[in-house]
Amino acid sequence: MRVHGTVRVPGDKSISHRALILASLAAGESVIRGILDSEDVASTAGVLRAMGVDIPRLTNDIRVRGVGLRGLRPPRSGLDCGNSGTTTRLVAGMVAAHPFSARFEGDESLSRRPMKRIAEPLTYMGARFEFERGDGLPMTVRGMDLRSIDWDTGGSSAQVKSAILLAGVVAGVEVRVTERYLSRDHTERMLRAMGVDVENDGNQVCLRPVLRLEATEFEVPADPSSAAVFVALATMADEGELVIEDVCLNPTRTGFLAAVERMGGDITREEVKDSAGEAIGMLRVRPTSLGAVSIGAREVPALIDELPLLACLAAGSGVDLEITGAEELRVKESDRISTVVQNLLRVGAFAEELPDGLRVRGVRKPLAGTVDPRGDHRIAMAFGVLGAITGNRVEVKDPQSVAVSYPGFWDDLKKAVA
Ligand code: S3P
Repeated sequence: MRVHGTVRVPGDKSISHRALILASLAAGESVIRGILDSEDVASTAGVLRAMGVDIPRLTNDIRVRGVGLRGLRPPRSGLDCGNSGTTTRLVAGMVAAHPFSARFEGDESLSRRPMKRIAEPLTYMGARFEFERGDGLPMTVRGMDLRSIDWDTGGSSAQVKSAILLAGVVAGVEVRVTERYLSRDHTERMLRAMGVDVENDGNQVCLRPVLRLEATEFEVPADPSSAAVFVALATMADEGELVIEDVCLNPTRTGFLAAVERMGGDITREEVKDSAGEAIGMLRVRPTSLGAVSIGAREVPALIDELPLLACLAAGSGVDLEITGAEELRVKESDRISTVVQNLLRVGAFAEELPDGLRVRGVRKPLAGTVDPRGDHRIAMAFGVLGAITGNRVEVKDPQSVAVSYPGFWDDLKKAVA
């Protein structure tokens, strides 16, 4: 199979959610360029509309008139967060500092995902949480006047960190969050661009109280998690070269590129520049044979969403891979450790689960079979790439699940290999 041409994958999902949320809280009109139009971002838009923000249809460039800090209105019914953990956790942080209650609802996958990780710090700050079933959704948040917090999350979660930061912004109180290893820092960068005094020091972030957020212009770069799929594709191709444009190269997101480079991948980063506080650049990727790699806890946050893809890349390239320190994968859109391993076994690869990760034993052979991604967009795309490699016959059930983060994925994949 030969790769060719230039791909511009859609806007970054994390930055798109945050741009909508922060624009809604600002004083005045913000512009968001290059926002991702996908199911997850539509969930955030829908939830904000339900609380009185006039969010237009998600086209490439949109304008959002903010309602100001504490300007959200009580929703008339439950907030439907769909499949989106980021929507739930970040919006819960905002609601915690508003003088009303909201009930958060989601699909089956989201309803199983842990929410106490945000309920604990936000309860400490003064909000109230009610759960109907254990740790998941539905969950009701009763907003209150909040107090300041100095919280150690014990892990590395940008969603937990961002929920606390947003609660602090809306409530006008100082917050400090310490993580085990620094998670993606888009919230901090975007708040800084809106005039907030927020400082990162290693794995700690401190936000000082503000009275208002200044409206701004957000540029959403291409999503490095979507770009990673094409990096894997071009690396496993037989010939050609693929260029991927405008990719967000924020160091908290480039763990997959670093891992592939360590395996011997041929990736060049070109025209890297700063755009609205984020590094963006072009990737040029050429086919190459890879070597084994191990990923440990310290590296996990910077490639958390790409670990299923890395497993498929190792299996497709016939090289050994060990991932440890990634127990967080068990509570993503699916249990990504078991979904990946079971599907690799289904197509004839050698893989095993570890409590906190997985192992792939690299044997170069054609892979064939039908994969069930259990509705998980990232797993559907990772196996979609395996299916495009010469000699493999991999069919992905429920292919439309990619719409959560990348609705046009199958078309772009076809174009890159045509
Ligand atoms: C995200 C943070 C990560 C990531 C998710 C998006 C974000 O989750 O896996 O896809 O936008 O903040 P955690 O914060 O739970 O690690």
